[in-house]
Amino acid sequence: MGNIKIIETSDGSSSLFNEQLNETYHSNHGALTESRYVFIKSGWEDVKDGKDKTSILEVGMGTGLNVILMIEQALKNPDHTFSMITLEPFPLKEELIEGLNYTDLLEDELTSYFKTVHSCEWEKGIAILPNFTLTKKKATLQEFEAEENTFDVIFFDAFAPNKQPEVWYVENLTKCFAVNKKDGLFVTYCAKGQLRRDLVSVGYEVERYPGPPGKREMLRGWKK
Ligand SMILES: C[S@@+](CC[C@H](N)C(=O)[O-])C[C@H]1O[C@@H](n2cnc3c(N)ncnc32)[C@H](O)[C@@H]1O
Repeated sequence: MGNIKIIETSDGSSSLFNEQLNETYHSNHGALTESRYVFIKSGWEDVKDGKDKTSILEVGMGTGLNVILMIEQALKNPDHTFSMITLEPFPLKEELIEGLNYTDLLEDELTSYFKTVHSCEWEKGIAILPNFTLTKKKATLQEFEAEENTFDVIFFDAFAPNKQPEVWYVENLTKCFAVNKKDGLFVTYCAKGQLRRDLVSVGYEVERYPGPPGKREMLRGWKK
């Protein structure tokens, strides 16, 4: 995946910059702020009501920021059970992970969980907490297979469509729609018109949603 460097974003949280793609892993306006807003507040929080368990698929684990933020939710919601699968075909080198400052910005108890997230075995369901199971898969979305109607929410956090168009192909969106549960949600930071049209074409009811700092809009698709 080319040369990757640690950068600092506007809210003081780290992100990564991939020199080959000329692309960051998060918004320059704040990695932590963006992840919390796009995937936790506008994602999980909007599907959790009335459930005692949620199943989450993440496309693009990267730094593991969305995973640790979901573990934070699991600690706050001990009566709710979480099962999360995260896909990452290009796991990061240990020295990059060690250079990220997320654990300085989060509650102390998350520090050891962040280490576990990165050191735990791939391809296996690992109980990080009694109510949080994580499966890391070293696979692309194109390779990934799951049963239909499996996930309450899909965090679509791939690099931008102009950098990695193949991840956003309609075939992949069709797969997301199939594996999303009924009344489930597809959420992404991206607001491109082409993506909106493609999501509609595969069956989602799509809404333009207010974006995180620095972005007017983002997209969410509901499987009705
Ligand atoms: C925008 S970054 C992810 C940010 C990540 N969620 C985080 O919090 O750090 C996109 C990630 O998608 C991964 N990726 C690249 N191709 C992919 C594919 N075909 N399927 C799934 N993930 C892919 C990249 O290696 C990268 O880690």
